[in-house]
Amino acid sequence: MKILIVGSGGREHALVWKISQSKRVSKIFAAPGNPGMKNLAEIVDIKTSNIIELADFAQEEKIDLTVVGPEQPLGLGIVDEFNSRNLKIFGPTQKAAMIETSKSFAKEFMKKNSIPTPAFKICNSAHDALDYFRSAQFPLVIKVDGLAAGKGVYICQKKNEAEASVKEIMLDGKYGKSGERVVIEEFLNGQEMSFMVISDGKRVIPLATSMDYKKAQDNDQGPNTGGMGAISPAPLISRDLFNTIMKNIIEPAITGLKFENKKYKGVLYAGLMITRDGPKVLEFNARFGDPETQVVLLRLKSDLVDILEGSADENLFDIGADWDKNVSGCVVLASGGYPGSYAKGLKIQGLERAKVMGLEVFHAGTSQSKDGLISAGGRVLNVCAAAPTLKEAMDKIYDGISFIAFDDMMFRRDIGWSRP
Ligand code: AMP
Ligand code: GLY
Repeated sequence: MKILIVGSGGREHALVWKISQSKRVSKIFAAPGNPGMKNLAEIVDIKTSNIIELADFAQEEKIDLTVVGPEQPLGLGIVDEFNSRNLKIFGPTQKAAMIETSKSFAKEFMKKNSIPTPAFKICNSAHDALDYFRSAQFPLVIKVDGLAAGKGVYICQKKNEAEASVKEIMLDGKYGKSGERVVIEEFLNGQEMSFMVISDGKRVIPLATSMDYKKAQDNDQGPNTGGMGAISPAPLISRDLFNTIMKNIIEPAITGLKFENKKYKGVLYAGLMITRDGPKVLEFNARFGDPETQVVLLRLKSDLVDILEGSADENLFDIGADWDKNVSGCVVLASGGYPGSYAKGLKIQGLERAKVMGLEVFHAGTSQSKDGLISAGGRVLNVCAAAPTLKEAMDKIYDGISFIAFDDMMFRRDIGWSRP
């Protein structure tokens, strides 16, 4: 089989790595890919937003299965474009991806289907939002309705913070069209967990559980990021909690979407808060989590291609997933300043040594220059390992990191040890 992976981050590098282990696969392409994938895939210079060119490429190269990493091409309708040309693709259609691309749609959908989620109010204008704050309870959370590259969530302790946030989102237009509507949400206390399943529209295969560490600094200090590390399994998952999530969240979501003519094929990712009243959905994503996917795939024993193809073919009937008993971890090496502004083009050293130590180093934001490998993004590398215990996995990762260097390299030293 010939496979095309769409995307260029650590998640996509992990997908390429796992898919390359399938006996069914003869060739992998990655668009636009990254330098870390070079030994496993042919890099194709097409942007993830260029869905027509991606479909042309898949047609010309007779790609058997395309796998989409990020949300942006899903929101642009890449799956619909491929479907219209009879090209096999893994992921939800544009309509089904609304579960991620429109927070207001997702909240109304959850309400309608009795899926537990924080209480909310949708505001279509700054005037509505400011009016609402006059009698609202604080803290509260303001979310940009559309895609915002993981940045459109504001936790506001006081009214003046909420007013400033609404000004930035709705009056100054920081997020463009995405911010023309906001969801204002009750603030919840609890522990966060990521729960991913793969669906064929009807059936689901739950993936191994995981947890990511969202804050930039140790002890969950500093601003929210796309994720500074992850572990699998999630420590707080019990059999009971797993069953509750499947029964109260995943099953009604898949059934509800089908009922609304938005049959959901692909990964459904629920970002959960485990509260005293049980698990509640903070967000749904229509894609694999990053860096959760890295730790989950490190533990997958089954052939990922069977699962992805089963979803695309609506045939997950007799396919399952086997998981390694080892515990896996991932620490993100980021550029100093991330998630704010940061330098690019910094020379990266020490990767070979880390690989010899048995670590998987997935590239996120890297680029190849004539002088060697350099940084090209906020999250630069994902250093990952699996071992019989969490402590062994994390010790191995941190030992490996001590050999890797670039200027201003920043990473959390407490991944696996503190609970977000
Ligand atoms: P989201 O993109 O909606 O998952 O939000 C990003 C992050 O903001 C989450 O991972 C939480 O850490 C935090 N967050 C979002 N919504 C809430 C909420 N209702 N209560 C408390 N924290 C929240
Ligand atoms: N790590 C969080 C996400 O992928 O959205």
